[in-house]
Amino acid sequence: MARIESEIGVPKGGFMKWIDDRFPLTETMQYHITQYYASKNFNWWYLFGVLAMVVLMIQLFTGIFLTMNYKPSADEAFASVEYIMRDVEWGWLIRYMHSTGASFFFIVVYLHMFRAMLYGSYKKPRELIWIIGMMIFFALFAEAFSGYLLPWGQMSYWGAQVIISLFGAIPAIGETLVEYIRGDYSISDITLNRFFALHVILIPIALIALVFVHIVALHHVGSNNPDGVEIKDHKGPDGIPLDGVAFHPYHTTKDLVGIIVFLMLFCAVVFFAPDMGGYFLEHANFEAANTMATPEHIAPVWYFTPFYAILRAVPDKLWGAILMASAVLLPLFLPWLDRSRVRSIRYRGWIYRLALTLFVISFATLGWLGMQPVDSIYVIMSRIFSVVYFGFFLLMPYYTAIDKTKPVPDRVVYHG
Ligand code: HEM
Repeated sequence: MARIESEIGVPKGGFMKWIDDRFPLTETMQYHITQYYASKNFNWWYLFGVLAMVVLMIQLFTGIFLTMNYKPSADEAFASVEYIMRDVEWGWLIRYMHSTGASFFFIVVYLHMFRAMLYGSYKKPRELIWIIGMMIFFALFAEAFSGYLLPWGQMSYWGAQVIISLFGAIPAIGETLVEYIRGDYSISDITLNRFFALHVILIPIALIALVFVHIVALHHVGSNNPDGVEIKDHKGPDGIPLDGVAFHPYHTTKDLVGIIVFLMLFCAVVFFAPDMGGYFLEHANFEAANTMATPEHIAPVWYFTPFYAILRAVPDKLWGAILMASAVLLPLFLPWLDRSRVRSIRYRGWIYRLALTLFVISFATLGWLGMQPVDSIYVIMSRIFSVVYFGFFLLMPYYTAIDKTKPVPDRVVYHG
């Protein structure tokens, strides 16, 4: 009997064994879930990675249903969104989930990135996790920017006009590049079509692929933790890190609580304040795009405004664009700018604590300034806070090297 089984390839262990002989399913689940040991002292900052995954799924799911009823044409786009809101069954819910999801994506990802800055998660050996994360961040920017043109409202049109025209400031090739991006001499139906293709096909595929490699890289080196201690350095006789607990069931059950609380907040916004007073859905975008009438005040959605404020702080268009691009790119170099011997803020000195506090204040204030009308006082403030923002990164090699650190414990500190 045993001979026959092995000959015909039906193993004794049932269906799972059948699968495992052909595909490493159990092995993969063990490697990534049931035998992935992450530190036992994770705190709530460690929720945002999984929450980013939840939002990504919400966006993909609702996006598919929006695409079923949306018309990517300059003549019909705005009306098709109205149709989704009024006539398509549950269309309003799908659309509000998608628009709220966009803002929540950035809230979650900004907090996720900030956690890495708190605990030095970008430092050796996790540089690649950080770099892939930054690529996700750039892709998210492109996804949000392309998506914002699709409803073809006033702010969709004029916001895209402002940002795309920035490329025109590049010497020699600028104007040609702008035409290539628009596909036309002005933002038109052609631009809308290509942005639609990027928004629903290219960028989502890139995002999914990047998130996949982000997790592969993370599981290869192992997660950091709030103490910044390498748990793999202290293993028991069974080869399991002494301070690690299996991702499933220990972290999954805890994450589930976080996901439920997060979904409650998400639903509260979707059902009670979907436009969030004009921050999540700008009021000017409830009017159809009018190529002949510029809105009085053009401002991007809140998640772009810190960088928009930096752009406007500089009188010269080209330098404004260069500084804005540098502000977005600079965090990419954090693993090499930060020369501290310790990872976690818990064991850093006062200089880094002060620098990080100033960074948060400058980022939040720039975000607020980017929403204000162009006025001399706001421009001066934008300049001051831009200097603080750049100072945080550019002076980092110096202040992290001289900052007095505290001794890091051998094992993680955990009071159960
Ligand atoms: C769609 C967006 C993203 C998803 C779904 C995602 C997902 C995750 C998940 C599930 C984890 C493990 C759980 C955790 O540590 O929170 C993680 C860790 C990490 N992520 Fe992301 N991430 C995203 C974007 C980013 C971005 C934009 C950055 C930074 C630029 C980043 C940097 C990191 C780092 C450094 C870690 C390791 C943290 C540690 O071990 O302390 N991620 N990510």
